[in-house]
Amino acid sequence: MRILITAGPTREHLDPVRFLSNRSTGKMGFSVARAAAEAGHSVTLIAGPVALPTPPDVTRVDVVSACDMLAALQRLLPAHDALVMTAAVADWRPKICHSAKLKKRGMAPVLELEPNPDILQTLKPEKGGRLFVGFAAETGDPLAEASRKLAAKGLDLMVANDVSQPDAGFAVDTNRVTFITPDAPPRPLPLLSKAEVGREIVRWLETQSERKAKG
Ligand code: PMT
Repeated sequence: MRILITAGPTREHLDPVRFLSNRSTGKMGFSVARAAAEAGHSVTLIAGPVALPTPPDVTRVDVVSACDMLAALQRLLPAHDALVMTAAVADWRPKICHSAKLKKRGMAPVLELEPNPDILQTLKPEKGGRLFVGFAAETGDPLAEASRKLAAKGLDLMVANDVSQPDAGFAVDTNRVTFITPDAPPRPLPLLSKAEVGREIVRWLETQSERKAKG
């Protein structure tokens, strides 16, 4: 399969040195990319600003903002069979991005924001027969919110992680995830390394792709 993966945070600049972002390190997405390449798939990884080396046999495209990520995906999606969106995309960006560093005395105490595009929803009309996998980072009731996002974004699989747990979600090397699909009960996985979660996702993609091929 030709698998497109996003990883890491996006940065939404208000000037050349200041930005809005989040705690994503890219570990989860890079683990999926490594697992997919090790399984022999052709892998393109679109990475937000992270400090990780590119896994062997993976083609990497670096981006900064949510709009950059969307543009890269629109360019690359047609040549791929599956998309795995592990990236923690910023939902908002500063309304104005200044080309020069703002002086402290020239800044207002309130920052005006505007919404970023929802990347998965924007790509939905281009989905065709491709498999789309999303991630949901939740703190409240992970399954309810992840199931809502699965339906709203038209996904084949939502990987819900409960980021309120210290051994799951952002920055750590392990994750506690539940696979949520439109037509089966949720499948909770035990505490796994992110490498193992990556391999589980790749196995899920392979199984679905074989099912589709058989009709
Ligand atoms: O990078 P790590 O440190 O290893 O941390 C991993 C992780 C916690 C970032 C990862 O496992 C994870 O949960 N990623 C998704 C986090 C998230 O932003 O969830 P969300 O509920 O906001 O978004 C749901 C889905 O929509 C995601 O697949 C996201 O990529 C996508 N999305 C979100 C916002 C947006 N504007 N467009 C999108 O397409």
